[in-house]
Amino acid sequence: MSDVPPATTTPADRQVTPETAGRPVTGADPALRAAYRLCRRRTKDQDPAEYALIQLVPPTLRPALHALWAAANALDDLGDDRTAPAAERAARVEAWITALHRELPTGSSPDPIRHALVDTACRWRLDLSELRDAMAQVRDDTRGRHFADWAQWRAWGRDNLLPWFGLVRTVFDRAGVPVALRLDTREAYEEFLDGVRLTDILTDLSADLAQGDLLLPAEVLDRHPGSAADLTRRRWSPAVAALVTQLTGLARQWVTREALTRGMHPGPATVLDTMAALLRAQLDAVDAAGPALLRSPPRPALRVRARILAPARTRAALAWSLTPLTVPPRHRPGPHRSPAPARPASTGRFRQPPPHPGGEQPPRIPPGLLPAHVAVIMDGNGRWAQQRGLPRHEGHRAGAVTVREVVHGALEIGLRHLTLYTFSTENWRRDPEEVDAILDLLRGELTENPFGELDVRLRWHGRAGRLPPDLVDLLHLRERTTRARTGLTLTMCIDYGGRDELTRTAAALAHRARAGHLEPDLIAEDDFARHLPLGDMPDVDLLWRTGGEQRVSNFLPWHTAYAELHFTPGLWPDADRRDLWQAITAYTHRQRHHGATPAATAPASGTPAASADGPSTARRSAAPAAGPGE
Ligand code: FPP
Repeated sequence: MSDVPPATTTPADRQVTPETAGRPVTGADPALRAAYRLCRRRTKDQDPAEYALIQLVPPTLRPALHALWAAANALDDLGDDRTAPAAERAARVEAWITALHRELPTGSSPDPIRHALVDTACRWRLDLSELRDAMAQVRDDTRGRHFADWAQWRAWGRDNLLPWFGLVRTVFDRAGVPVALRLDTREAYEEFLDGVRLTDILTDLSADLAQGDLLLPAEVLDRHPGSAADLTRRRWSPAVAALVTQLTGLARQWVTREALTRGMHPGPATVLDTMAALLRAQLDAVDAAGPALLRSPPRPALRVRARILAPARTRAALAWSLTPLTVPPRHRPGPHRSPAPARPASTGRFRQPPPHPGGEQPPRIPPGLLPAHVAVIMDGNGRWAQQRGLPRHEGHRAGAVTVREVVHGALEIGLRHLTLYTFSTENWRRDPEEVDAILDLLRGELTENPFGELDVRLRWHGRAGRLPPDLVDLLHLRERTTRARTGLTLTMCIDYGGRDELTRTAAALAHRARAGHLEPDLIAEDDFARHLPLGDMPDVDLLWRTGGEQRVSNFLPWHTAYAELHFTPGLWPDADRRDLWQAITAYTHRQRHHGATPAATAPASGTPAASADGPSTARRSAAPAAGPGE
């Protein structure tokens, strides 16, 4: 075994050049060596194509990839093992996840696959909590799945695959070969993974059907009447043949994404391109199988694979010879990297927010009177710093502490949506040092992930294109891994501008109209709202601005149309959760009309009526002077 890592690394192990990379490593703990060997063997036996792809990366990276692959599959196998009833399979998956959670801080496991996974996580500093929802999904899949449409199918597939692929990307990052995706290729990347999933489902159709699973959306089955019933009876009919042809065509389209690897390091680019070629060969085999597809998984001929892999090996060897890789020393395991256990389907196991330092409790407000959505313009950081003779970035740092505090208060009072104006499209005009400091601060907060163990779903609202790609990656990561949380939705507006949002929405509508999906004369407010970048964000009930200014500064113009405004003189870093509670209490005393007569409305409640409550007083203003929006 040339690619089993040692239990500890020497400085010579850490700087790996192509010359040293293939050398056998010695001195590893025998149990760990055996664990990695098992992962490697399982990969080779269960998925030769995956194994061949991993062979395209330098030997020092392979054990981590074998461990990740073997762990994902071991968990899937537990969930799929039809010799046991569904409830028992779910319990086994849960026990596996719980054991991993327990073992991670110790750095070892009696189960060889988890032993390799835990070692990989420690060595490469992988945050396995990113797998929380993907693992919970395997458990919940034991109850069976039904997808009404492609959107549901996609969400399911992406929730499962993206976190695992994300960890593989992190291994490359840590080795010094970042697999940064350009913003314009993110959708292509996610669609590529849809293609991976669909190819997998088509290949394993016979096995899934034997187990009573049909993992395709009803939307596509309905397009081929009778196909679902024929598949269930494992009958190859014209409807099934047409369905398979449509699906292989779709998957082929999804995995053929040349732009995806443009600009990427040639090492990972070769792996991804080869993966796409192998997937297409697999789809050809599915097409060629005909009725045999319903009896056993088709495989491409060996010579077809060899034709793809031989040149790929040469390209990969050349590509990796350009970059010396860094293998990090084994990290001491610590509880902060524990994967949070998978959340049970109905009850959360999240930590409670820490209490207010002075022991203050939130006011009791009946749920019907609570605003659903509070948006905040966090103004006054710069002045706060200046008042103390500090550089402005110290004000932002203090502001980030207030953000934590206010989020804790939002959770305590039971708020559903909190949206923060963090960095506006106009903030690029500030001194580049200050801009860098704010972006660094965001990077730090997202990395430290202070809300990771709370029931907080994080979302990003803003423009793609100008932010550093690693920050965007972090934002997407946090969005992805918190997507299923139902407590507080915390939306960070970063490189956000209200007019930019509206302009992009208008462009989206124009595209839809040009494509014939919308009739321009019939476009209604609802259509507009649905085409906003965050089409499901609720209207803002309460807009709170600190720092003494009384402006809305290009913040959420669509959503604040009926918002109650609350301006406070204090600077943002001086605020704490009690100020949020105070703002909410004041809101509950407001009369909201939404254009109706006062008698027809209750205090601070209800959804906006269709009519406006007066002529618009908005005027185009010259570039304003302060605040995140300015
Ligand atoms: C406005 O104050 C504030 C900003 C431009 C940045 C807001 C950013 C933070 C509060 C930190 C972000 C942290 C997280 C984690 C969301 P200003 O600089 O305009 O203050 P001034 O009006 O006193 O100059």
